Amino acid sequence: MITWEDRFSMGNPLLDRQHKEFFSKVNEFYDSCVIGVGEARIEEFVIFMENHAREHFAAEEAHFADNNYPGLDGHCVEHLSFLEKIAAIKKRLDMGEYEEDFAMEVARFGSEWLSSHTRTADWKFVEWIRERG
Ligand SMILES: [Fe+2]
Ligand SMILES: [Fe+2]
Repeated sequence: MITWEDRFSMGNPLLDRQHKEFFSKVNEFYDSCVIGVGEARIEEFVIFMENHAREHFAAEEAHFADNNYPGLDGHCVEHLSFLEKIAAIKKRLDMGEYEEDFAMEVARFGSEWLSSHTRTADWKFVEWIRERG
């Protein structure tokens, strides 16, 4: 479980709203996993992550570009890699190539993305813009 805190704010209402939504959906899915989820619920969550990511990445990259952020290219690579991982998960779902703990694996994947990207890579932009003044 990973919760949103005001200190994670990017200083942009749209990006903050999207980040918060991702936090709450990941937590919701985690809770469902504890009870037990079927393939349809896993698929629903994976599709949510994909659609949400596409929309959010476009908004975030545009915001970074508007500010001439020098880390934009590297950041786009991370976004692309997330979408590639989602594609791989979708493929496994379609092929039925997964073990019993697959739902938890997917939940962990979403949660790790929050820690490693949203709270780390995205945050680098905030630090950069603060230093720039
Ligand atoms: Fe983000
Ligand atoms: Fe990002």
